[in-house]
Amino acid sequence: MSQFIDNNMKQDTHIIYLTKQFLCCTALINMDFTVSIGKDFDLNIQKQILDNTIDSELIKRYPIKISYQKAFLKSLMKKIEESGNEVHADLYNAYCRLISLPDGESMHYRHFLIENGTLNCITLKESTNLISKGTTGLCSWQGAVILNEWCAENKERFYGKTILELGCGIGLTGMSVVSTCCPKQYIFSDCHPMVLDMLCDNVKLNFLSNERCKLLNTREATSRLQLQLKYEQTDIQVIDLKWEDIDRYVTDESSHPDVIIAADILYESNSFDSLASGLKCLLTPDNYAIFAATIRNEDTVTQFLEHLGNHDLAFEECDSPKHIMSIQSINAPVRILKISQTI
Ligand SMILES: C[S@@+](CC[C@H](N)C(=O)[O-])C[C@H]1O[C@@H](n2cnc3c(N)ncnc32)[C@H](O)[C@@H]1O
Repeated sequence: MSQFIDNNMKQDTHIIYLTKQFLCCTALINMDFTVSIGKDFDLNIQKQILDNTIDSELIKRYPIKISYQKAFLKSLMKKIEESGNEVHADLYNAYCRLISLPDGESMHYRHFLIENGTLNCITLKESTNLISKGTTGLCSWQGAVILNEWCAENKERFYGKTILELGCGIGLTGMSVVSTCCPKQYIFSDCHPMVLDMLCDNVKLNFLSNERCKLLNTREATSRLQLQLKYEQTDIQVIDLKWEDIDRYVTDESSHPDVIIAADILYESNSFDSLASGLKCLLTPDNYAIFAATIRNEDTVTQFLEHLGNHDLAFEECDSPKHIMSIQSINAPVRILKISQTI
């Protein structure tokens, strides 16, 4: 993971904060350059920002969408001019280079910097659109960002445990949990073939180049398993698992996960019955599920909670994470739900 961070990345906390927001494509409207840098946009600071963002090795190798890079640089130059400072020539040069590039790409990379004693970077290839190729799973959703913050603040719940993630998409939450919480086993699951392919590519991209990682298995035609590797003490698996098939999965596996997690999977009410009955099969008196649900429509979540009740499952609200990393999408509220068997 961390090997993708440019060795020259400056450790100034304000610049890291701005870099962090740039790398995961935080909406520019939410970015306050002056809070990040103070009023002092001297030439040296400008060069450091450029070197850590658009001119970094990370972005040259795994670019975020060109239109975003251009808009970021334009906003930065505007702020510098407004602050009465001279704009560094390298910023103009970078802007000219960017406007000569085509910017209609359907796939790009986003990078999530995670502080866990050291600074780690999760790099994800994803779609530039929230819905693409008939699925919602080819990009990271707001719930995934919030859930990974929540997990990082509740590490002890995951340390040495077996975690199953449902509808994991391209893997942001899982990669963060593996790198910050050291679970014994992390099982990424989804059901869309293109999502599973991109998820496997992202898992390999982030873990396999690390010398502490070993590839154990790749796709087996007749099984759910798509990929298995060992990263430090964690057994990582990617499996093809439809919520409708969870009962069979539970029968095949001799053990139940310690924790089931999911982000932003409560959006299609016609899937709620299979999801709730799948949870019913996975839950025992000794485990529980944590769901992060972005509330775009309160009724949708209420319907899911009713399905839980119909399956004799209980829920309680958990506190939101205290520290929220800046994110790309609109700031709808996110509820964190702990779901368990009714006592
Ligand atoms: C909105 S995306 C969320 C992805 C990821 N959790 C995130 O927050 O970035 C919903 C995911 O659920 C998956 N999904 C939808 N219906 C499913 C089902 N019946 N069984 C398994 N996965 C499903 C989709 O393929 C997609 O990856």
